[in-house]
Amino acid sequence: MQVFFLKNHKLTPTTFFNKAYKNHKEFIMKLLYLYYVEKTLKKMIQNIKKITALETFPVRHPVLRAEKPIESCRFDGDILETTVHFGLYENKNLAGVISLFEEKNDLFDAEKQFQIRGMAVLKQHQRKGFGEKLIINSEKYCMDQNSNLIWFNARKEAVGFYKKMGYQVKGLPFEIKDVGEHIVMFKKNE
Ligand SMILES: CC(C)(COP(=O)(O)OP(=O)(O)OC[C@H]1O[C@@H](n2cnc3c(N)ncnc32)[C@H](O)[C@@H]1OP(=O)(O)O)[C@@H](O)C(=O)NCCC(=O)NCCS
Repeated sequence: MQVFFLKNHKLTPTTFFNKAYKNHKEFIMKLLYLYYVEKTLKKMIQNIKKITALETFPVRHPVLRAEKPIESCRFDGDILETTVHFGLYENKNLAGVISLFEEKNDLFDAEKQFQIRGMAVLKQHQRKGFGEKLIINSEKYCMDQNSNLIWFNARKEAVGFYKKMGYQVKGLPFEIKDVGEHIVMFKKNE
């Protein structure tokens, strides 16, 4: 590298650096700027779109039904017209899924309610903000459908996540056979 500089430009890396950047501060600012641009571009290549129930299975299966038969990923109501499934893609690869079922829970008064089911982010993509994006997108969808109440049966391990998203618990924990302890959570958008 140094030889190249000396031969071709009569520049050493140091003099090159000095010519390119006025000082170290400018160099660091440039690095920070490039880091920010890269982060922004990475965010832009994540997108959420409607998918079919079947398309959720590659995420539902390893995350929610590991070691169970693939058929266990099929939920009642998956193919109803009122049900919608969203997939979050990163670099065109499916990383997370969420499904919304129009389902009234008698614990709540609201006329039109949506139940979240099959909320899952692939292990290698967890804690990157994808779950939050899927929730925000779903809340927008429900508002567009004139529904202001979302509820679901939350797994014990996910309660902290939903609380961060502004959801509240309702009632006492209960057991869902073969899946584990759950508790009802909800959010009412005014
Ligand atoms: C729960 C789950 C959907 C969260 O998705 P995620 O993409 O990992 O979450 P995010 O990165 O968007 O997290 C958003 C915030 O919640 C926090 N969070 C994420 N998972 C959490 C958890 N299990 N407990 C407490 N907080 C959690 C994050 O730290 C982040 O907080 P911050 O904004 O202060 O940094 C995902 O971890 C998952 O698929 N888990 C296994 C399956 C599951 O439990 N699904 C829910 C069934 S009810």
